[in-house]
Order: sequence, then C-alpha cells, then structure tokens
Amino acid sequence: MVMAVQGLIDMSMCTSLPVVALNRLGSDRFVHLILQSPGWKWIPGQFVMLRPSSWSQDPFGARPFSIADIDEQGLHVYFQVVGQGTEYLSGLGPGDRVRVWGPLGRGFSYEEDKALLLLAGGMGLAPFVGLIRTHPKPINLELIFGHRQDIAGYPFQRLEQQTLAWSFQDRTEEDLLELKRVLGLKIRGYAPEGEVLACGPRPFLKMVKGLSAEFVARTQVSLETVMMCGVGACLGCVVPGENKANLKACSQGPVFRAEEVRL
Ligand SMILES: Cc1cc2nc3c(=O)[nH]c(=O)nc-3n(C[C@H](O)[C@H](O)[C@H](O)COP(=O)(O)OP(=O)(O)OC[C@H]3O[C@@H](n4cnc5c(N)ncnc54)[C@H](O)[C@@H]3O)c2cc1C
Ligand code: FES
Repeated sequence: MVMAVQGLIDMSMCTSLPVVALNRLGSDRFVHLILQSPGWKWIPGQFVMLRPSSWSQDPFGARPFSIADIDEQGLHVYFQVVGQGTEYLSGLGPGDRVRVWGPLGRGFSYEEDKALLLLAGGMGLAPFVGLIRTHPKPINLELIFGHRQDIAGYPFQRLEQQTLAWSFQDRTEEDLLELKRVLGLKIRGYAPEGEVLACGPRPFLKMVKGLSAEFVARTQVSLETVMMCGVGACLGCVVPGENKANLKACSQGPVFRAEEVRL
C-alpha cells in the first residue's frame, strides 16, 4: 500500500530531512519539532505529511501537520501527542531523519492590505505562526485563540509579541459561551469586507461557520481531518461539500471557503 500510494505522489515533493531540534512546550504532550529547512516557498495553511525513516509497518502511515513556519532555523511543526503516531514522533531526536511530503494542499488566500481576523482553536494555532511572521503589515491582523489545555503548550506568547492577540481558555460551558460571544462580536466587526481565517477542531470551525453565516462574513476554514495519503489518492479524507457531493480535504483543501464545506 505504501508503494502504491508513493507511486501516485509527485516524488519531487518528497524529501528526507534531519531533525534539528525537538522541544517540549509546557508538558511532554506538546512538542515543537524543527526539521532542516527544505527551502520551500509555502502558503500558510498548507501542510506536510511526516513519516520518520525508522518507522516500519506500525504505525503505518505518514501523519499530516500544518507548516507552522519555514525560516533560517528550519521547518517548524507544533503538535500535540494524541495517539501512536504523535507519540513516536515526540521521541525523535536531533539527526533522526524524517520523510517529508510537501508543501501540500490549498493554503489560505488573503490580501496584504485587507484586515484579517485569525481564529485559532487549540493546535489550529500552528499555521498562523508563519502567517503572522511573514505578513508585511501585521497592523492589519488580529488573532483570537481558544484553547482547552494550558497555554504554555502552544506558541502563543511569541505571537502576542508580534500582533494584536487574545486568548481564551475554554474549560467549562460558561467559558465556551464567552468564547462564542467574543467570536460573534469580532466576526461581526470584520464583516462584510474583512477576511476571517479559521483553523481548529471541527466543533470550533462549526461555531465559526455558523457565526459567519449569521453576520455575512467572508470566512475560510482549515480542516484537521484524518488523512492517509495526503495527496488525493486514497479518499481517506473526504468531507461533505455544501454543493458538490464530496470534497477531498488534502488536495481540494485543507482550506475551504466556509460556505463550501458542510461541518
Ligand atoms: C491538514 C492538517 C494539519 C494538521 N496540523 C496539525 C498540527 O499542526 N498540530 C497537531 O497537533 N495536529 C495537527 N493535525 C492533526 C494531526 O494530524 C493528528 O493529531 C495526528 O495525525 C494524530 O496521529 P496519531 O497517530 O498520534 O493519532 P491516532 O492514533 O491516529 O489517533 C488518536 C486519536 O486522535 C484522533 N485523531 C487522529 N487524527 C485526527 C485529526 N486529524 N483530527 C482529529 N482527531 C484526530 C483519532 O480519532 C483518535 O481518537 C493536522 C491534521 C491535518 C489534516
Ligand atoms: S488523504 Fe488520501 S485522498 Fe486525501
């Protein structure tokens, strides 16, 4: 199966990179992985598939992660340990090699001169790291970050220093209602001209989509669906579209206009 999928992949997009550093953020469950820079041009919202060279059959497939940034230090990925693949990835050390496919998928689309509202839920913060660092006019940006776990696990502090940013920890029903209230106020403030970019788990994106429809905001959502091949070959990432029957999150997304995709 690996060979069959690899046969469908443009191998110029696949490279083997050594780990430069792997740091824990706050706890063992939150990891900042830096791989040697592949020297790619990328669009925030695009992603990579990662598969350490040492993996044999189990865990089997590569795992998808947002490209958080690519700078002189390397290719940055932030991830939370949730299962076997991320557990194994968190055990990598400097010099270990990782096969990397990318940059994959459709990233966010935005204009430098337009006001951008960035909405992140949990690890959905990752693509905004590079977006904020590379944006030529950070004055046009505002970030709202909702998270359940301790904020020390996320690269929020550095973003706060670069742009206007707010964080909300949602642990209770009341916290969630407060987050929804703030998101509603902000989305309404950016409609109809400003662009809203959102990334996070599906319930978060569903809330953003609902509020965007209510206030007629221009919104893009980046999905974190389960993926297998990452390149449009296996149908492992299919999500229902609002108009078309199905959409492949890996090759037609992961960024969609909110009204394109059913959440
Ligand atoms: C385009 C894209 C970008 C992503 N970017 C990041 C990122 O920057 N940082 C990050 O931490 N994670 C990100 N993810 C999610 C990440 O790919 C998964 O957490 C990872 O594949 C889990 O692998 P695992 O083997 O550890 O877990 P598994 O053993 O495969 O699963 C463990 C548990 O997590 C659930 N799960 C697995 N994958 C997902 C998923 N994609 N969404 C929701 N639940 C899932 C499973 O249902 C299961 O309950 C991204 C996903 C996509 C599609
Ligand atoms: S993950 Fe294989 S088609 Fe999208």
